[in-house]
Amino acid sequence: MKTVNVGIIGGGLMGKEVASAFGRWFALNDYPLKVELKALCDINPETLDWYRQIDTVDILTTDYRELLDSKALDVIYVALPHHLHEQYYIDVIESGKDLLAEKPFGADLNAATLIKKHADQKGCFVRCSSEMPFLPGPQRLIQEVLSGNLGQIMEINAGFYHSSDMNPMKPINWKRQSRYCGEIGVMGDLGMHVLHIPLRLGWKPSSVYAQLQKIITRRPDGQGGWSNCDTWNNATLSTNVSIEEEEIPMRLEMKRLAPGETNSWFIEVLGTKGGVRYNTKDTKALWLFSMEKEQYWKRVDLGFQVPFQTITGGIFEPGFPDCFMQMLAAYFAEREGFIESRFGCVTPEEALMSHKVFAAALDSNKTGKAIAVKY
Ligand SMILES: NC(=O)c1ccc[n+]([C@@H]2O[C@H](COP(=O)([O-])OP(=O)(O)OC[C@H]3O[C@@H](n4cnc5c(N)ncnc54)[C@H](O)[C@@H]3O)[C@@H](O)[C@H]2O)c1
Repeated sequence: MKTVNVGIIGGGLMGKEVASAFGRWFALNDYPLKVELKALCDINPETLDWYRQIDTVDILTTDYRELLDSKALDVIYVALPHHLHEQYYIDVIESGKDLLAEKPFGADLNAATLIKKHADQKGCFVRCSSEMPFLPGPQRLIQEVLSGNLGQIMEINAGFYHSSDMNPMKPINWKRQSRYCGEIGVMGDLGMHVLHIPLRLGWKPSSVYAQLQKIITRRPDGQGGWSNCDTWNNATLSTNVSIEEEEIPMRLEMKRLAPGETNSWFIEVLGTKGGVRYNTKDTKALWLFSMEKEQYWKRVDLGFQVPFQTITGGIFEPGFPDCFMQMLAAYFAEREGFIESRFGCVTPEEALMSHKVFAAALDSNKTGKAIAVKY
């Protein structure tokens, strides 16, 4: 069986998630490709130490050029603070290797534009990370929308809620400072996840009215002092999308201060004949609206119906590591040409579109007006 060799740049939270998915790659049934983690780069030597437990890793380094120069690597996954995306993504692309890039695909619209330009010129396979749509619930939701059962679509609501920032004593980190995470703040953190399905279904916001909030503006610096926390904490975007020549409202919410919510990603599509809604908060449940003599929402408990079959029993519950592994399976399947009709990872084009929406949102918040989005 063919083996694809992978390197990771940035071995923190997400680097470890990717490494662990590769570690149980054999859980995928009849997947015609092996994937091995061969190299790891991180500037923190303690982080490198964690990767010593993985037998397949040959290169552990603080210098990412070692990965770019290695002839043994086919694909590089990069999970770094956002201000580094532009340089690192472009350097990976120019090295001739394929790239799986963490969102938001550059800290701002200029960075995303440049990264996509290099990817197009070089012709390598580049995709951006967004894993939630690979859960069974969102996959069924897409099928419901495409089935036409909803009638005329009237409204779309999608969002991603976190609550860990509700604690004002949580020490600051790079994700709470614009110079590292970008001026788009929470939109860069959560927005690509929210827009992946809408953009894939062709729902491109034509205009955006944004309400952006900076709520907690100072945090402990972790060394006995305080630091300014200058990113947008919460973003509510009222957008318009055109579906079958009708203008439909689509509301997008990205919140780091959503009381009680740990990692709730949701989407709801309402039509004149039916509706469908899903929230990771209740991982198994898909809600379907139907209208007979009476109107009702019915709950379906889904099992483990993932795009790429695994050894896990069909009635068991999926979780975050599962959808992450499914996203990786989709990346390599698309790269090798066997994804067929399955859902694919975010394309550079879609990542760029998301940045156009976020840039319009910044503009809208500044001017107090709805801003047209130009693609
Ligand atoms: N897909 C998801 O669900 C998801 C979730 C969280 C974060 N992310 C994204 O993943 C990326 C990384 O986030 P994270 O949460 O893993 O961050 P993190 O802070 O946990 O990890 C970043 C790692 O990069 C290393 N690093 C920093 N500068 C470096 C450099 N110049 N060279 C090499 N290593 C360097 C740090 O030492 C750290 O280990 C971001 O783009 C973020 O938006 C995605």
